[in-house]
Amino acid sequence: MSSPDASQHSADPHTAEQILAMDAYLERTVVQPDEHFARIRQAADEADMPAIEVSSAQGKLLHLLARISGARRVLEVGTLAGFSTLWLARGVGEQGTVTTCEFEPRHAEVARRNLDAAGVGDRVEILLGPAEDSLTSLRQQQVEPFDLIFLDADKASMDRYLELSLELSRPGTVIVGDNVVRGGSVLTDQDDPDSAGIRRFLSALGEDPRTEATAIQTVGAKPWDGFSLAVVNQVPGR
Ligand SMILES: C[S@@+](CC[C@H](N)C(=O)[O-])C[C@H]1O[C@@H](n2cnc3c(N)ncnc32)[C@H](O)[C@@H]1O
Repeated sequence: MSSPDASQHSADPHTAEQILAMDAYLERTVVQPDEHFARIRQAADEADMPAIEVSSAQGKLLHLLARISGARRVLEVGTLAGFSTLWLARGVGEQGTVTTCEFEPRHAEVARRNLDAAGVGDRVEILLGPAEDSLTSLRQQQVEPFDLIFLDADKASMDRYLELSLELSRPGTVIVGDNVVRGGSVLTDQDDPDSAGIRRFLSALGEDPRTEATAIQTVGAKPWDGFSLAVVNQVPGR
């Protein structure tokens, strides 16, 4: 995966350089990813995979959310090379598990190698196939509810993933959705199916009595984007 590039930012080049420098500073000082994260990026780069993983700061946020919520069972939709999966797997600790969904066999293979090499392979299950099928199958198996769910695959299906996630949740489950701003195109692009999927997802998060949510815009190593954060409510009669 390529290193951060100021030309990806919509900010003017000077501001973009400053944003990248600041993110690098925050990464060095507080985020402090170890060498396994750099190796995952390198392995993904060598496998010609797209550089669409979360930033280190965002990955550490997922890790902290898992720890703060005491999550033991995490569900991830969108594995890629296992970068965010490693942050989450570290967050659940040795007794925890991460179930992650990926439909590209090559991505799943690279992720499996990366996660094994990082020493968390035994706590990560990769479900190969379209995420909608994997989530439906988990629901049919009546698995225990997940404590934290991270949605980061195709954006056109975000509302569908939310619905299935709610069926795999309990009151208190944390649901994080990535790329909910997409450089502002979520608001402005009426023809893009991914932006439309995010709009349906955000509307559902705001309107559904089962969720209490916010959404935060971000800039950093990644261009202008954002994530949503929700908790599943106790709904009478559920
Ligand atoms: C943004 S990347 C995930 C990045 C990863 N969460 C990270 O931050 O390291 C999205 C991944 O979802 C996978 N994907 C896309 N559509 C999918 C689908 N319908 N079902 C399962 N996986 C899908 C892609 O192949 C890609 O690997």
